[in-house]
Amino acid sequence: MNNYPTITGLGFAVPEDVWDNHRLEKLVDTTDDWIRSRTGIVTRHIASKKDSTASLGAEAARNALHNAGLDPLEIDVIIVATMTPEMLFPSTACFIQKSIEAKNAAAFDISAACTGFIYALSIGSSMITSGAAENILIIGAETLSRIVDWEDRNTCVLFGDGAGAAVLSKNGKGGRIVDTIIRSDGSKAKLLYMPGGGSLHPASEDTVRDRMHYLKMSGKGLYKEATTSMADGAVRILEKNGLDIGDMDLLVPHQANIRIILSTAKKLDISAEKVYVNIEKYGNTSAATIPIALSEACDEGKIVNGSNVVLVGFGSGMTWGASLLRY
Ligand code: UT7
Repeated sequence: MNNYPTITGLGFAVPEDVWDNHRLEKLVDTTDDWIRSRTGIVTRHIASKKDSTASLGAEAARNALHNAGLDPLEIDVIIVATMTPEMLFPSTACFIQKSIEAKNAAAFDISAACTGFIYALSIGSSMITSGAAENILIIGAETLSRIVDWEDRNTCVLFGDGAGAAVLSKNGKGGRIVDTIIRSDGSKAKLLYMPGGGSLHPASEDTVRDRMHYLKMSGKGLYKEATTSMADGAVRILEKNGLDIGDMDLLVPHQANIRIILSTAKKLDISAEKVYVNIEKYGNTSAATIPIALSEACDEGKIVNGSNVVLVGFGSGMTWGASLLRY
C-alpha cells in the first residue's frame, strides 16, 4: 500500500492575557469601532514575559500529541513555521524538541510567514509519502507582539500571539492530506517585512533608532494580493484533484481580515457557513491562524467523516498556498 499522510491530531495554545480593542485605544489613535468594522477583530491574546514562541509552540504540540494519542518519542521530525523565532538560531523547533522531549526527532524551522503552516504541511506530507518519516509534528507558532510597533496604529491592532500544531502520520485515521500547492513571488517582499536584525541590516544603534526591528506593512497592497491568491488557491487545489467548489464542505482560510475572508467567499460564490472564521477572538497570528482554526473547527464538529476541507493562506514573501484534506 502507498504511504499516505494523515492529520491524526490537532492542538493549539494561546497566551492567557486577552487584550480587547479598548485597551489599544489607550496605546494608539484608534477606536473599537474602526478595528471591528475594518478587520473583524475584537480581542487578541498577548504573550506575557513567561511566554515565547517556543513555549506556546510546545504547549500546542503537547495538545496535538495528546489528541493523536502519540508519545513524543514516536515523532521523527518537528517542523516549525514562524516569522517570530525564539532567536535567529538555533531553530525554534530545537527548543520545542527539548521541551516536549521528542528525543528521536530531527527539528528545523521554515520561513514562509503566514503561509508557513501550509508550507510545513507540504514538506511533512512529502516526507511521509517518500518513506523518510512516519510521524511528523508541524507547528505554526508566533509571538507577533514582540515585533509589532506599538506606536503604529496601521499594524499593531491587527496581530496576536498563539500556536497551532498538527501530528501527521503515515496511513493514520483522520484528515488525509490529499494534495498541497505552494507558491511565491519575491518581487513583492516589501509588502510585509522586518528590515532590521538580519544579515543585510544587523542590529546596531542605527537600526534600533530607525525602528527597523518592527514589522512594516503595506496594508492595501497585501489586501489586494490576499483576496486573489486565496480564491485562486482554493479553485486550483480542487480542480487539480477533480473537484469543484460545490464539493468543498469547509474552507479554512488564513485569518488576516474578515473583509479579506468574506471577499474570498464572494469570489468563490460560497455561503458564509462554508467558511471557518475565528479572527474576532485571536486577530492575525500569522503561521498559527490555520492550525488554530482547523483545530477549533474539528472541536466544534464542523468537520465530519467524508468532509472535503480546503486550507488557504497567503503572507509575507509573498507566499501563498492551499491544501486539500479529506476526512
Ligand atoms: O497576514 C497578512 C498580513 N496582513 C494583511 O493581510 C493585511 C491586509 N490589509 C488589511 O487588512 C487592510 O488594508 C487594513 C486593515 C490594514 C487597513 O484597512 P483599509 O480599509 O485598507 O484602511 P486604509 O489603510 O485605507 O486606511 C483608512 C484610514 C486611513 O486614514 P486616512 O488616511 O483615510 O485619513 C488610516 O490612517 O484608516 C486609518 N487607520 C486607522 N484608523 C483608526 C489605519 N489604521 C487605523 C486604526 N484606527 N488602527
